[in-house]
Amino acid sequence: MAIIMDGNGRWAKARGLPRAAGHRAGAEAARAAVRAAGEAGVECLTLYAFSSENWRRPASEINDLTALLRFYVKKEFESLHREGIRLKILGDHTAFEADVARLVDDAVARTSANERMTVAIALNYGARGELANAMRRLAADVAQGRLQPGDIDETRIEAALDTHDLPPLDLLIRTSGEQRLSNFLLWQAAYAELLFIETLWPDFDGDSMRAALHEFARRERRYGGL
Ligand code: IPE
Ligand code: IPE
Ligand code: MG
Repeated sequence: MAIIMDGNGRWAKARGLPRAAGHRAGAEAARAAVRAAGEAGVECLTLYAFSSENWRRPASEINDLTALLRFYVKKEFESLHREGIRLKILGDHTAFEADVARLVDDAVARTSANERMTVAIALNYGARGELANAMRRLAADVAQGRLQPGDIDETRIEAALDTHDLPPLDLLIRTSGEQRLSNFLLWQAAYAELLFIETLWPDFDGDSMRAALHEFARRERRYGGL
């Protein structure tokens, strides 16, 4: 499953707090969501933490988000690792400050053999960019004679995406009442069940996770068949 964790700013505004306080509360909600998903037996949880379009925000907000990322990777790494969680990154996290990128790389490398659950964090991720990268990679293979154009099929495209080693996306949740994908997992969402909920991300808790999974279980999936 994947979550577009939206509504931190509105959560803070409703309380008369700075947006950074909303992001802090949102980071706590992300921790809780990982725990709740693990308890429910979710194989892979993908969290949209920063889009390739979020660079349009003021520098002060980007600094706050980077500082939170640094803090949480340091603080949460040991417990993730202890719980058998493999950390994976979607997108290009090397655009963040070098020390943060290194912390992330280190956490990914050190958890790479964990098998209980995968937590994928989308950082400086955009689905169109991901698809463009995949196409560039396949084109390079064709140019170098390693691949024929006629051999490019859905399986090859999937193998060239950032999500190549993740299970198929079954459930995509967006919080905060917005009903759009904001450039998230466009290819992968082709047959995902979409769930838009009004809850602002910092208020999303274990009960919200259980309610979402319950709703998913009720859905009838047809994949074009009958
Ligand atoms: C989501 O909350 C977190 C990020 C995009 C990093 P927002 O910051 O988008 O919160 P709203 O949409 O302004 O309420
Ligand atoms: C999408 O939320 C990105 C993340 C949750 C990280 P945004 O708040 O950036 O999306 P828009 O701008 O409302 O589409
Ligand atoms: Mg938002």
